[in-house]
Amino acid sequence: MVSVLVDNIGELVTNDAQHGDGAPLGLLRDAALMVEGDRVAWVGERRFAPAADTHVDVAGAAVIPGFVDSHAHLVFAGDRAQEFAARMEGRAYSAGGIQTTVAATRASSDEMLAGNVARLVAEMQRQGTTTVEIKSGYGLTVSDEARSLAVAAQFTDETTYLGAHVVAPEYADDPAAYIDLVTGPMLDAVRPYARWIDVFCERGAFDADQARAILAAGAAAGLHARIHANQLGHGPGIGVACEIGAASADHCTFTTPDDLDNLAQSGVVATLLPGVEFSTRSPYPDARAMIAAGVTVALATDCNPGSCYTSSMPLCVALAVREMRMAPAEALWSATAGGAKALRREDIGRLEVGLRADFSVLAAPSYVHLAYRPGVPLMHAVYRGGQPIA
Ligand code: NIG
Ligand code: FE
Repeated sequence: MVSVLVDNIGELVTNDAQHGDGAPLGLLRDAALMVEGDRVAWVGERRFAPAADTHVDVAGAAVIPGFVDSHAHLVFAGDRAQEFAARMEGRAYSAGGIQTTVAATRASSDEMLAGNVARLVAEMQRQGTTTVEIKSGYGLTVSDEARSLAVAAQFTDETTYLGAHVVAPEYADDPAAYIDLVTGPMLDAVRPYARWIDVFCERGAFDADQARAILAAGAAAGLHARIHANQLGHGPGIGVACEIGAASADHCTFTTPDDLDNLAQSGVVATLLPGVEFSTRSPYPDARAMIAAGVTVALATDCNPGSCYTSSMPLCVALAVREMRMAPAEALWSATAGGAKALRREDIGRLEVGLRADFSVLAAPSYVHLAYRPGVPLMHAVYRGGQPIA
């Protein structure tokens, strides 16, 4: 196997606390990273680097693990720019806009849907994302959810069935019948393509009992749970996530101290999506209180045409730092190792021997620049499984 030494790294973020001063980022200065095949083969100070077949000299740049974007809704058609413009003029965000995208998605061909996902995934990769979770949820019929997940599975292993995004328009008068569909024939149809099941547990979408029933059906079919929780108001979503042992409760915009204790005790990851608060002018989640309570925090984009149409993890890092008062180190950890925890992945999110060689070389001397230089394209090169992808 050919070995490649990425050499002359000014600052290497490993997320392996055995390096550096023991802090979670595991920072190394004047470092090198050896890749063999798709794996990390060696990490350390460059003066101790082993011999390698080829060298890539990054001239003192910072190197960080690839971003793990653990929450994105990429299978859709059309956009909702007019809804965004109206919101910026004072209209509130509501879950109702989802139906606009459902209609456009149903009217779209498989090829158009796949083309849109390909465009967004390429956009993400250029911004340093090496793993993305992709949800369905804009089909809401058996065939449209199944084809949404079949499209998603062309791009990632982290596919999530979100038939329980909102009640499909045809079932507006009979939500119980829609839940029977979601937990029955629709679940059967998506099962070959889905790893996760998600539910939007919120007023206007699904309540706690409905969410429990949907996630239990998913679990019986072998799908692991994650939840849209406490996005638009205080609600039962986080409680349900903790009770059933979901991998992650996502949004967590409105929380009580009990919610935070519950998350910390149960080990459910809180996935914060600050691009949503930015794009809907909502209050930001209380990341400081979560961290103080011992909650594991992840950061993700929530890329979708309604509440947040950004594909940029660097933007989310910058927002987390500026608006949620996360330290730059905390935000970067949450956007990489935190995302891996939210997806229960042990092989990504850190740069350690044996893990997948997913990393970005920054056009900057320090990871701090991700927040310090908001909006600036700082990815010099992005590698996934040891191969340059952007
Ligand atoms: O995560 N909360 C529910 N779903 C998306 C928004 C979907 C949309 O508005 O199209 C979210 O914010
Ligand atoms: Fe979402």
